Amino acid sequence: MAAQDLAKTSYNEVATAYDGYAQTPAGIIEAQLIAQALGPDLTGLHVLDLGGGSGLHARECIDYGAESVDIVDISPEMLKVASDIEESLGRRDKIKTFEADVSKPLSDYGLPLREGYDVVMANWIFSHADKRSTLEGMFANIGAYLKPRGIFVGIRDANPSSHNFQTGKYGAHVGWVKEIEGGVKYWAVLHCKPEPVEFEVSSLEIIYGGSKELYENAGLTDIVEVPLKSAQCVKDDPEFWADFLEDPFLAVVRAVKV
Ligand SMILES: C[S@@+](CC[C@H](N)C(=O)[O-])C[C@H]1O[C@@H](n2cnc3c(N)ncnc32)[C@H](O)[C@@H]1O
Repeated sequence: MAAQDLAKTSYNEVATAYDGYAQTPAGIIEAQLIAQALGPDLTGLHVLDLGGGSGLHARECIDYGAESVDIVDISPEMLKVASDIEESLGRRDKIKTFEADVSKPLSDYGLPLREGYDVVMANWIFSHADKRSTLEGMFANIGAYLKPRGIFVGIRDANPSSHNFQTGKYGAHVGWVKEIEGGVKYWAVLHCKPEPVEFEVSSLEIIYGGSKELYENAGLTDIVEVPLKSAQCVKDDPEFWADFLEDPFLAVVRAVKV
């Protein structure tokens, strides 16, 4: 099964439980790193959230003042969670959801997206690409929809073999890992409550190895990893986070469109 089809099936199954990830240590640090990358003030800005799923980080953008967030995701069930939450909050037109495969040209879908966005996020979608061409398709959309000087923010795998991804200390662990051409597939277990959320991930070395090539090809510059030490949770409890800082399994990348 293609990685995109697998993502659709897997996330449809786990959609209602996925947001529990936000309460895990990994979920907490990634949200704080994203805040650093974005911020802190998004007043009046328009955001495109590729693979934005249930809207965890889209809602954070609204909290930081964004005018709107358009989420595009392949899983209708993840999108339903996002739109149900918006309805429960009594909000209209702040967060809109669109179903599409973000490794394909989004212009082909005829979606009512903006021509250009101030911010484009791509959080964890590169972990669902088992071929370079799939990643290139994702990056093509990032480049196409970011305005000049717009900000890119994305969470990616950092080291699927990290010791800290085996112990589960930080709220997620790897079940199994298999080598594939150019990278690995692994079984991710997120320690959501009341039950863990599990799914298969495909991650290529060109992403988790920290290469800037695909980012640069998409017209991005000033590509940096947000320092883990800048997260408030690390400042509050450096002892707990010491192992993670030594061998992290995620990174938040920030870049600017040329
Ligand atoms: C780990 S979840 C992360 C969701 C959200 N970005 C976040 O950080 O909370 C990965 C998301 O990427 C979506 N996804 C994976 N491959 C995709 C693709 N090719 N096109 C669109 N969405 C995709 C999945 O449906 C899922 O919602």
